[in-house]
Amino acid sequence: MNLQSRDPEIAKIIAAEERRLREEIVLIASENYASRAVLEATGSVLTNKYAEGYPGRRYYAGTENVDAAESLAIERAKQLFEGAEHVNVQPHSGSQANMAAYFAALEPGDRVMGMSLDHGGHLTHGSPVNFSGRIYDFVHYQLDEESELIDYDAVERMAQELQPKIIVSGYSAYSRTIDFERFGKIAENVGAIHLADMAHIAGLVAGGEHPSPVQHAEIVTTTTHKTLRGPRGAMAITSKDWARKYDSAVFPRMQGGPMEHTIAAKAVAFKEALSNDFKQYAKNIVDNASALAEAMAASGMRIVSGGTDNHLMLVDLRAMNVSGAEAEIRLRSVGIVANKNMVPFDPNPPRVTSGVRIGVPSITSRGMGTSDMETVAEMIVASLRVDDESTEQRNLAKRVKDFATSFPVPGIDS
Ligand SMILES: Cc1ncc(COP(=O)(O)O)c(C=O)c1O
Repeated sequence: MNLQSRDPEIAKIIAAEERRLREEIVLIASENYASRAVLEATGSVLTNKYAEGYPGRRYYAGTENVDAAESLAIERAKQLFEGAEHVNVQPHSGSQANMAAYFAALEPGDRVMGMSLDHGGHLTHGSPVNFSGRIYDFVHYQLDEESELIDYDAVERMAQELQPKIIVSGYSAYSRTIDFERFGKIAENVGAIHLADMAHIAGLVAGGEHPSPVQHAEIVTTTTHKTLRGPRGAMAITSKDWARKYDSAVFPRMQGGPMEHTIAAKAVAFKEALSNDFKQYAKNIVDNASALAEAMAASGMRIVSGGTDNHLMLVDLRAMNVSGAEAEIRLRSVGIVANKNMVPFDPNPPRVTSGVRIGVPSITSRGMGTSDMETVAEMIVASLRVDDESTEQRNLAKRVKDFATSFPVPGIDS
């Protein structure tokens, strides 16, 4: 019995979500559209199988097929990220991939250094409301106030003074190229481990549009569902020396049975990412983000750090007197989905914020190009200026919907 007959309520919700994805412009920097092939693997019978352990050494019988899928995922990940000595494709999420890195290398109370959350770090980089901030002694570096860029000398001085056991690089809201090599050297000089969390930029690294952290970090973690365009999940790449410790931190310390259906879908996504089309996609992302940032700046918006080198930008709305929370509502009211975000040295609290984070991976997956970015910028800026239900707002909403529906959504329409 199919879903429609078995559970029409859930089928209806999924259909509504498909409609939303078609009709809205998704600018959430961490989202993307998985392909039909990825969705198919995710929805496959591999969901049925228990396979605690790793390929060839499982605690369950009957694992030959999931062993083959997991081995393929590992092999392809190694091909995709050159120099990868060891890969673990089991972490259920980016947060868990990071948790396993901490479990592998730290004891409770050990010191870790990461970027402060309000400057672009992730919750798992030591937020007091997250397990990382509760279990470990996190200290945070920030961006340079004037340039809004990472000040590597300041990071180095802080590392020398505070002697962390891990230094975390990689962020959720940093729009510039990360010098992973420099982070590797800073960590080496203080005897720390370098954990590079490339969750946001993994697709750009895979496509050759951002320098790879793999040669410069003992442990690299990433989600598979952002710029990498795979299923919701994560993976880690470690040096040979950290392979066993990392694997046992994932299983049995942190997780039980791996999600083999998702792992198979990761393998599919890695195959897709190895193609020339994906290289072109990664380039298109970077071109689109630059074009959008330029068009936004030309309309008077302040882009944090003056632009972007990757897939996202932060827009500082203080001059417009609109909070990030209000901007999120105004954008959504016309069918543009983006999220509020702290800007560096933000005077507003996290629930309010002074900025919005805008990313182009999703619209680039739909086939929008640099010539469309002016239209997108125009619609963003216009919607930020409309604060009430009005004819102008309704016209804008129609324009957004007409524009969005003229592009196919991968996984649904193509
Ligand atoms: C830099 C970074 N690391 C880790 C994560 C966590 O990923 P997940 O939401 O899959 O736990 C995110 C998610 O946005 C992220 O931006």
